[in-house]
Amino acid sequence: MIKLDTSLKVYIETYGCQMNVSDSEVVASILKDAGYVTVHSYGQADLILINTCAIRDNAEQKIRNRLDVFRQEKKKRPQLLIGIIGCMAERLKEKLLEEVKSLDLVAGPDAYRDLPNLLRTAGSGQQAMNVLLSMEETYADISPVRLDKNKVSSFVSIMRGCNNMCAYCIVPYTRGGERSRDAGTILREVQELSDMGYKEVTLLGQNVDSYDWNGVSFAQLLSRVAEINPLLRVRFSTSHPKDMSEEVLHAMARYDNICKSIHLPVQSGSSAVLQRMKREYTREWYLDKIASIRRILPEATLSTDLIAGFCGETEEEHQETLSLMKEVRYDLAFMFKYSERPKTYASRHYKDDIPEEVKGRRLQEIIDLQSIISAEVKKQDLGKTVEVLAEGFSKRSREELFGRTSQNRVVVFPREQYHAGDYVRVLVTGSTPATLLGKVVR
Ligand code: 5AD
Ligand code: SF4
Repeated sequence: MIKLDTSLKVYIETYGCQMNVSDSEVVASILKDAGYVTVHSYGQADLILINTCAIRDNAEQKIRNRLDVFRQEKKKRPQLLIGIIGCMAERLKEKLLEEVKSLDLVAGPDAYRDLPNLLRTAGSGQQAMNVLLSMEETYADISPVRLDKNKVSSFVSIMRGCNNMCAYCIVPYTRGGERSRDAGTILREVQELSDMGYKEVTLLGQNVDSYDWNGVSFAQLLSRVAEINPLLRVRFSTSHPKDMSEEVLHAMARYDNICKSIHLPVQSGSSAVLQRMKREYTREWYLDKIASIRRILPEATLSTDLIAGFCGETEEEHQETLSLMKEVRYDLAFMFKYSERPKTYASRHYKDDIPEEVKGRRLQEIIDLQSIISAEVKKQDLGKTVEVLAEGFSKRSREELFGRTSQNRVVVFPREQYHAGDYVRVLVTGSTPATLLGKVVR
């Protein structure tokens, strides 16, 4: 029989932040127009792309190990093309091609439109690279191919790059300067997702609060997105505390479908460390911001990012992080050991002087405290009826569903007649450190 399916197959593996997940969908769309279909395992792929992260050294190590696996596959199938895209591609540029001879392609976050071109070069047996950053590229007109099989929740990118110069952070170097995406294309994309039956969108940017497109602010954009469909939940990430305005908080209060959870990375509880990190706020200023959130949005939950063992961090400064955590009582925290990144302000001006075992011990103290706080704050929901957007089967059983409350708390409950994408009222009857347990109420 003649094989009719002549499409080339691409397998995209994504590392790092939500922005990378969203970028992989843009890449899939560009490649679809170039004749590629997306597949979910690399064994049958003609092209493997690794969309990479450079935020910490261990993220890059993980990717290198994975690359070794794909290189073995290429030994078996020499026609296979392998490309590295995203932040690690941007950071290492031609060094990657020199170091890994079997690598065919390197493309930075602003070069995805050039992929079909690069693939032609790679296909002819030459290594291909484009790592140019752009001040304009937002991929505004590209309709992402949704790669996630869960058809409940989707990311929508609203801006790219970052103009902050946090001393530890590689992102401004790998993703370039900040630019906002055309508001019209954002609203259209959200409308399409809503029409397709999606129940939740997360607006993404490195620093969403500084969104500005022809005078449209983030608060205005958020409100217009919320008005598209009152049954479509709206989340956003990430906010820099220095830019989060009261207008955004008021917009959140005004619309029921804007979820009441805020990710507000603090990084450290010590004003001196924050100053060295160039975060442009103090502990007191941050706590004032938390107080405004509590005043305007009393039901909102908070999450954060924390770095242990930044340059010169004293034991007292570390204690200040722990005390800030006790004061704010975050629902959730992403906690990291400081990892020096070449080119950043910190790597040029400070010494990475906290010994590895001290970093490790401090991180562990932060993790231990957070797990106590996470478990405690969840108990606030015991006995309450919450509205849960079901997302899929629970990890444990197909007789149970899991979903999230507006506050971003995960709830597990009996499936009954419900499906992913349904809003379900659940009475919270118990909790584990990570999830709430409940039963359906009608
Ligand atoms: N080392 C450790 N953590 C880092 N982050 C960013 N840069 C570094 C680094 N060099 C963390 C910050 C940021 C999150 C995305 O990653 O907490 O908010
Ligand atoms: Fe890094 Fe700061 Fe930009 Fe966040 S806001 S990505 S921490 S530079």
